[in-house]
Amino acid sequence: MERTKILVTGGAGYIGSHAVVELYEAGFMPVIIDDFSNSRESVLTGLEQILGVRVPFHRVDCNDAEAMRAVFAEEGNLRGAIHFAAYKAVGESIEKPLEYYQNNIGSLLTLLQVMREFGVEALVFSSSCTVYGVPDKLPVTELTPTKKANSPYGATKQMCEDILRDVAAAPSNRLKTILLRYFNPIGAHASAKIGELPLGVPQNLIPYVTQTAAGIREKLTIYGDTYATPDGTNIRDYVHVVDLAKAHVVAVQRLLDGKGEVVETFNIGTGRGNTVLEVVHAFERATGQKLNYVIGPPRPGDVPAIYADVTKATQELGFRTTATLEEALASSWKWQQSLAAVS
Ligand code: UFG
Repeated sequence: MERTKILVTGGAGYIGSHAVVELYEAGFMPVIIDDFSNSRESVLTGLEQILGVRVPFHRVDCNDAEAMRAVFAEEGNLRGAIHFAAYKAVGESIEKPLEYYQNNIGSLLTLLQVMREFGVEALVFSSSCTVYGVPDKLPVTELTPTKKANSPYGATKQMCEDILRDVAAAPSNRLKTILLRYFNPIGAHASAKIGELPLGVPQNLIPYVTQTAAGIREKLTIYGDTYATPDGTNIRDYVHVVDLAKAHVVAVQRLLDGKGEVVETFNIGTGRGNTVLEVVHAFERATGQKLNYVIGPPRPGDVPAIYADVTKATQELGFRTTATLEEALASSWKWQQSLAAVS
């Protein structure tokens, strides 16, 4: 039987590449679009090693409507799309707001336009818990009010959600969409053939931790220990990227089955919050590595604490995460070691 084709924009990226694996293993045919603006071609080799086949790939910028049309025309029978492709660095977005608005909003608009032209009606969108800003109450549910974003990056996620709600509500519309609000993705595929590939000095916690343990960085700086949390460091909900990837398979299937409303929003996290120090100690336990770290000043813009209420995803999507924090961290370390072995 022919596999159902799903377009995966940003399919060579961190979350996108893991979703490609899970989609293929669930019986879909992921069709990757990526321009390698924040990923590497070697990801395609890793995917081929895991899957045993080379899935269709198009080197295209999602803002390029003509090139996007060519992909839809060539593939012929795309049934849905997952839109991962976006710029994602909070700090960089403050330096380059125009590029962030242009790329993140522009690519969604172009994708929606081309999807409509080709009659593709199912879209899963990568949103973020950043839309909640600094929440008044924890854990956050999908009904927790969104707050003014504290970066242009966060603002693009809120705007993209608004655009999708407006488009889906239009009387002539045929689009059905699921907005997945990711918490903090960590970890790597068990094979260690794909994982997070930060270009330059990592901004995110886990790649900084693994690079420190590998001797690439001298020490981790923990950004502040005077927050109103049990040990004073920030709380986040760290979700294994393979669990997160599986949520996309469930969401795509739900759209294709015609279940649910025209727009639905789900938190995708574990429902657990961990402090930065807990993560450091869990990493040490999971890997046997001693981590060199210091406490530094708070990072501007950091939310003191956020973690997900996952009741809605559990009840309506039937989705729950399975990996423990230690398992996720062990997979990150295995990936870091495989990187060190090739470079
Ligand atoms: N941290 C450190 N030292 C570091 C890096 C991070 O202590 O070197 C701390 C941060 O202060 C924070 C935690 O580790 O408390 C996690 O930081 P990340 O940068 O890994 O993740 P964030 O929670 O800041 O950001 C993530 C995504 C963003 C998204 C945001 C909110 O990377 O894309 O969640 O949704 F916008």
